[in-house]
Amino acid sequence: MLKTHTCGDLRKSQLGKNVTLAGWVDRRRDHGGLIFIDLRDREGIVQVVFNPERSKACHEIADQLRSEYVVRVAGVVAERPAGTENPRLATGEIEVIADNTEILNPAKTPPFYINEDVDVEERLALKYRYLDLRRARLKANILLRCRVIKFMRDFLDARGFLDIETPILIKSTPEGARDYLVPSRLQPGKFYALPQSPQQLKQLLMVAGMEKYYQIARCFRDEDTRADRQPEFTQLDLEMSFVDKDDVTALIEALLTDMMAALKPDLRIIKPFPRLTYAQAMSRYGSDKPDLRFGLEIGDISDIATRTEFGVFRSVLATGGVVRGIAAPGCGHYTRGQLEELGRLARSLGAEGLVTISLGATPGSLDTLTSEEVKSVAARFLTLDQVKAISARLGAQKGDLLLIVAGKPDKTATVLGDLRKEMGRRLKLADPNLFAFAYIENFPLLHWNAELDRWESEHHPFTAPWEEDIPLLDTAPAQVRGKHYDIVCNGYEIGGGSIRIHKPELQRQLFRLLGYSDAESEALFGHMLEAFEYGAPPHGGIALGIDRLVMLLAGEETIRAVIAFPKNQSAVDLTVNAPAPVTENQLAELHLCVREE
Ligand code: AMO
Repeated sequence: MLKTHTCGDLRKSQLGKNVTLAGWVDRRRDHGGLIFIDLRDREGIVQVVFNPERSKACHEIADQLRSEYVVRVAGVVAERPAGTENPRLATGEIEVIADNTEILNPAKTPPFYINEDVDVEERLALKYRYLDLRRARLKANILLRCRVIKFMRDFLDARGFLDIETPILIKSTPEGARDYLVPSRLQPGKFYALPQSPQQLKQLLMVAGMEKYYQIARCFRDEDTRADRQPEFTQLDLEMSFVDKDDVTALIEALLTDMMAALKPDLRIIKPFPRLTYAQAMSRYGSDKPDLRFGLEIGDISDIATRTEFGVFRSVLATGGVVRGIAAPGCGHYTRGQLEELGRLARSLGAEGLVTISLGATPGSLDTLTSEEVKSVAARFLTLDQVKAISARLGAQKGDLLLIVAGKPDKTATVLGDLRKEMGRRLKLADPNLFAFAYIENFPLLHWNAELDRWESEHHPFTAPWEEDIPLLDTAPAQVRGKHYDIVCNGYEIGGGSIRIHKPELQRQLFRLLGYSDAESEALFGHMLEAFEYGAPPHGGIALGIDRLVMLLAGEETIRAVIAFPKNQSAVDLTVNAPAPVTENQLAELHLCVREE
């Protein structure tokens, strides 16, 4: 190699040693006489000193150096003079005195500072992603991602899983999102699809007798990009034969628990992972991916509200609605302006309105709450006992603020779920040292899509129903529970999986329920149905969203920060400028022409 050591290696134990380093100029300081550069490579930064009295030639080269020049320096490791040590650098006790210097490549002035953690406009940062990746924060994220994936591979390898690649050019089947299509040159008018996930292939690997499979799998979904969504992303995808739900969830719990201990020992996790049913998650947290780092649970107060004289509550309850709320701790002193802003927020989230009840400005026990302290538009319709009963139900103390929403059950749940999340964020309720994993189970197998007038799979059409619910497929599909589990963490869905259908008749029945004729099922999924005729074992699996998991571990707010070359909001790769037009010849070879819109 062109170097003997990395820039992060050197310590006092190497004093007097001749070393050769190579890297980038992080910073250059000219002290008239001595020139100092901070030399940077992937492993760290070390100070190099150019002394004209020691090497005039070296000093002359150092004079030409600018930020991001690529250089190679040979020299001696020396102790820094007393008082000039830099405790912020791992190599801060030493410096390298240069005896030989070579410019391997000069560099233009970069479009943004690489040696400082300053905000850079995202368009610029993405265009010059290779420069942004030199910066400490992104570099640390990429290293973390690498360690996470290595941990997963080692963990699964030690447990007998086979790492098997599956094709990227597959067949378009309706799986939830829109497919990316690839035109075939050899088969005019036909298209491959890029996999939204290796779902069907991993199930076929179970039919093939592989028993335990995993893959770090790239997935493609042509859907709107968001902070936690990219058009191409990476899953830890796995599938196992002869297992039930608990086998898969226990394996992932062990993987994540061990991974946290190995990579993030300072973070706390809740063990064992809480398991909530979908119904519990929705009623207590108003979300199927609740953030369990804080309480602020939603409480149902319909039974108390119905006994009050408050018209809003009574009319909603009379038409099948519910009254629910949360208690924001220590917010009893909120001003009228703050309360109005919360009302606007609730309406923007879809609520008809928000009823607030202030329980006084000073914290204390509920027993000491007086009527004078209670402030609310509903106050004169509520007795003090009713206010106390509602407060107790919502876990409130004196000095808190009750936020109450009345309306249809589903809407009330999601509005309060979003309000809970927002209040949690504003009041900084989440413990930053806690990683709150949890499983959400017992999802309904299907939901009714009123717009399209048909049943849709809650997850995907291969999820098995609970055995005891199978008779309901014909009579009450909405009540059928799926053997599906999601894993959530800190308010994000980081994975999902299920036990699968492995009997062809049941799979056909499900496709029929989803509105496919038998002929359509054959055309789209015939390969699965046929495979199930040849001795398909019971099987199940899961996929973890690696980008989201690493985002949370890195303390980032978007998965773009943990992907080497992400797409922007418009699904454009600004580094290489994709997508881009192609030539008429390329189109002709693919039997395509572009339609003018
Ligand atoms: P699902 O569609 O739930 O399941 O995906 C599993 C996990 O992948 C992550 N994820 C995404 N991450 C970034 N960008 C996206 N666009 C994106 N979409 C999903 C999420 C999600 O929880 N085949 C099934 C798994 C199975 O049943 O085994 C599947 O893909 O973290």
